[in-house]
Amino acid sequence: MKQVKAKIVSNEQVAPRYYKMRLADRYLADNLKPGQFIEVRCSDGSDPLLRRPFGPHRIFSAKGVFEMLYEVVGRATTALSNKKAGEELDIIGPLGNGFTMAKHAIIVGGGIGIAPLLALAEKMGGGKKSALQVVIGARTKEAILCEKDFKRLGAKVIVMTDDGSYGKKGFTTDALKTLLQTPNSQLLTIYACGPRQMMQAVAELSKEYHVKCQLLLEEYMACGVGVCLGCPVKVRKDLVDHEYKMVCKDGPVFDAERIVW
Ligand SMILES: Cc1cc2nc3c(=O)[nH]c(=O)nc-3n(C[C@H](O)[C@H](O)[C@H](O)COP(=O)(O)OP(=O)(O)OC[C@H]3O[C@@H](n4cnc5c(N)ncnc54)[C@H](O)[C@@H]3O)c2cc1C
Ligand code: FES
Repeated sequence: MKQVKAKIVSNEQVAPRYYKMRLADRYLADNLKPGQFIEVRCSDGSDPLLRRPFGPHRIFSAKGVFEMLYEVVGRATTALSNKKAGEELDIIGPLGNGFTMAKHAIIVGGGIGIAPLLALAEKMGGGKKSALQVVIGARTKEAILCEKDFKRLGAKVIVMTDDGSYGKKGFTTDALKTLLQTPNSQLLTIYACGPRQMMQAVAELSKEYHVKCQLLLEEYMACGVGVCLGCPVKVRKDLVDHEYKMVCKDGPVFDAERIVW
């Protein structure tokens, strides 16, 4: 982990509330792994003071660059959206554990939660080297992200919208349940990131169908390095006891079966 000044190569709006930022930094591009995160100082002044966590969306080690896909939701992400190519960003990373790779996977992304899962799919070699199925969900058509990127990788993609304005009407977990009902689904690993309610439902399905499942938790964070105790998650210690782990230090990726909801 290092503190670096990464150069902004581009920062483009890709949908009404979503931006893609490409950053150049040799150290981060070489060392970031899918599922890890970086802590970004989003403004030059003191508002907001705290860094914000973001997962790498794509990593191009050979070119020394990586990308973040982010949703503008508050002060930090608004400040980020106003940054221009050529400016520098103060970043600490890589932080956290990252995903453990599996051969046969189902990726489930809800809303902006799909962003860090593209880096994972690219690292796995997409659907070309193995069977990769992807479920992308959002409230409406405008918030569906990365569909083409996953298709370009050869993955089988199912799109779900809450209002039925695009793809199929329903939740990501409706599509996931159907996929898990196919023969040999126990050989798959589910990778998911999204709203808490979706993550809990994914965890319950993985338990019901005896499928391994890794969840990337996007909790609120302050220090990002396990010092402030501001990002606890309740996990099973053994069959009877539980304990608290820090999402930033012990995660952000956790086996679904360990989490106490
Ligand atoms: C490991 C990790 C990886 C992440 N990766 C990405 C990413 O790739 N792209 C991306 O857009 N965001 C990502 N996030 C979330 C991102 O950090 C927050 O959206 C950002 O901190 C918001 O800052 P803000 O000042 O703009 O908004 P704030 O003013 O802090 O919040 C604005 C609104 O968003 C809500 N909010 C903020 N953070 C969260 C959160 N973590 N969970 C649920 N609601 C929240 C608040 O309740 C509030 O309503 C990630 C978070 C973690 C922990
Ligand atoms: S953010 Fe401080 S302990 Fe996790």
